[in-house]
Amino acid sequence: MDYDAEKYDTGAADAQQPARQLIRLIQYYVREKYGDKSTYDSLTIVDLGCGPGNTAELLANHFIGAKIVGIDIDPEMIRFAQTKHPEHKFFVQNIEKPWSQWPENFRSTYENKVDIIFANYALHWIDDTDSFANTIRQLLRPTGMFTGNLLYCGWLQSVDDSDDHLDKTLLDESLAYPTEMEFVSKFFWSLRSCGNFHSINMEYQEPVSRFGRKFYTESFIEIPLKWYRKFLKRSMNDEEIGHLNETLKRLILKQRICKVIPATDTISSVEQIDLRQQLYIFKAIKN
Ligand SMILES: C[S@@+](CC[C@H](N)C(=O)[O-])C[C@H]1O[C@@H](n2cnc3c(N)ncnc32)[C@H](O)[C@@H]1O
Repeated sequence: MDYDAEKYDTGAADAQQPARQLIRLIQYYVREKYGDKSTYDSLTIVDLGCGPGNTAELLANHFIGAKIVGIDIDPEMIRFAQTKHPEHKFFVQNIEKPWSQWPENFRSTYENKVDIIFANYALHWIDDTDSFANTIRQLLRPTGMFTGNLLYCGWLQSVDDSDDHLDKTLLDESLAYPTEMEFVSKFFWSLRSCGNFHSINMEYQEPVSRFGRKFYTESFIEIPLKWYRKFLKRSMNDEEIGHLNETLKRLILKQRICKVIPATDTISSVEQIDLRQQLYIFKAIKN
């Protein structure tokens, strides 16, 4: 498990604003399609990579009466979400697995029955984007909506300067992570070619999230670190991994920090950092 469900549930303020932005896109879509309603009993909304259920709750509050189905690969997250929100349905499932390998009872219940698929801060882990796009196609009803955001963790070589020359070589020799262009175009091309979407709108934004420096550097940074290490070119011993981690940490901070807020008694007693994210926000409508 990468995240602590309880800590994530209370500390994931950075994910809230992008989630609300996706909810606004759903509101426009729902209003246009069904008109203004006080309840949405007929709607089924799937929350992919739902984590501890915070976004499921947000969806339920905005679309009163809708059936909310959360999916996450992490059993701890799902246990936490199901306990906190027993009124919704939650499933442990790897969303990257081919649709034919999803449990039979899930497929027969939801195939072609889902009105809206929502995914906040979860899609950057997906490697097999063709298989994923096919799953979205199987789940959605015709004219159903898929909305989400795709986070790019950052091209660390771009913060290289003369002092970092050795680090640049280390990154080039150890990691094969995709450039932003490869990463983004692969995802959207899969939606287009395997997802059967006839309309895809995408917008790029750089939201800023504020963290306590200690919390980010000692714990939250493990998440982007894991993303980069997903693309190791060769097996590395513990010492090499340790060195790579230190280099990645330094460059991640250098690439992302856009403001440092010193600790003061009046604002906060800990030093805080503002980090810039690279986010592709999209909505796609199935044929
Ligand atoms: C940053 S959290 C986002 C949680 C929630 N969507 C939010 O906005 O707060 C990313 C979640 O995606 C889940 N995840 C990552 N890869 C996944 C996969 N292949 N299948 C299903 N869930 C996945 C993780 O377990 C984690 O709970």
